[in-house]
Amino acid sequence: MRETAKALKISEDVYWVGAVDWGIRDMHGYNTERGTTYNAYLIKGEKNILIDTVKGHFFDEMISRISSVLPPSAIDYIVSNHSEMDHSGVLVKTAGAVSPEKIFCSKNGADALSAHFHGKLDLTAVKSGETMRLGNKTLTFIETKMLHWPDSMFTYLRENKILFSQDAFGMHLATKNLFDDEIPDYVLEWEAEKYYANILMPSSALVLKLLAELPKMNLDISMIAVDHGPIWRTKINKILSLYKKWAEQKPEDKAVVIFDTMWGSTASMASAVADGVSDSGSDVKILPLNASHRSDIAAELLSSGAMAVGSPTLNNNIFPTLADTLVYLKGLKPKNKIGAVFGSYGWSGESTKYLSQILEDMKVEIVGDAVKARYVPDTGTLFQCSELGKKISETLKRKLQN
Ligand code: FEO
Repeated sequence: MRETAKALKISEDVYWVGAVDWGIRDMHGYNTERGTTYNAYLIKGEKNILIDTVKGHFFDEMISRISSVLPPSAIDYIVSNHSEMDHSGVLVKTAGAVSPEKIFCSKNGADALSAHFHGKLDLTAVKSGETMRLGNKTLTFIETKMLHWPDSMFTYLRENKILFSQDAFGMHLATKNLFDDEIPDYVLEWEAEKYYANILMPSSALVLKLLAELPKMNLDISMIAVDHGPIWRTKINKILSLYKKWAEQKPEDKAVVIFDTMWGSTASMASAVADGVSDSGSDVKILPLNASHRSDIAAELLSSGAMAVGSPTLNNNIFPTLADTLVYLKGLKPKNKIGAVFGSYGWSGESTKYLSQILEDMKVEIVGDAVKARYVPDTGTLFQCSELGKKISETLKRKLQN
């Protein structure tokens, strides 16, 4: 037991009792280069309530933090807002230590938690919009299906005006600073954007629906207490407006050039494409796959209107790093993108054909013809690449005017 771990007060009678994971660098394929936190919250009152738990090996740390406020056995209720294991992995163990009167979750949460734990939990499913008076505290539960799992829900604590939003509005950032105003803006915005791109982008239509519905619920929100990263208290409107912008995915005057290379030929082509884009006045980001993680590429793509993709042909196919990245990006369902393809080859040259097929599957509008170079691109081929970049920029600018 790490008995030095104490709860941190975030509001009257409300405490952060989570854990900081300084060392995690991969969360199911997401490069968590700044680590993360698993935020759990304790509401102390006539009835004591625990909102969410932590990832497996942080159980002792959570219990230690709870114990600094009250004995864990004094917890009356647990709310599970999200059944993914970084928040619910220790739920059975916690229920064993706490013996709660009830564990609340959404209907889909009950289904998911039962499947995870094979009936070891006695769960009480709540309805979306249901309000419950628990001692001197009032909780309202709001289902947020597919933000980002079917079970996801928010819990609103009326007396403290806190919206517990599980994964939504979060970010992977290990920090001892609990609040948004204690983190530099450039870190906050990049990590929030990267998190949106990798976790919430596939559900953008549902994000827009939620953002339209939230004001109608008349929730007076002074804090958004997320399950990862800092709590929003000074920039609530800012994060809500960023979510609207990211969810709308309006095309922006920026292109990403994603490529890998065997002997430098496709790299030369990528540089020429990027030159064409920037010479025509659009922003461009070059992302060589030997140096760019798929989850950072997803974040760059979110704010880009175009993706140019290049690959050598290897064994009659695309380079394996391209396959990895494009499968991942396809799953995130980016919208409103234009694209272009290029690649080098020695004798068969299938890479551009397969790249085009993947972009079409992603519903990316392909502009220009694929540019191919046999072995090493000559001046004429590099000029074609630059012209392709120019076409990308011109098409983006036309779209922005419409
Ligand atoms: Fe942080 Fe979807 O779990």
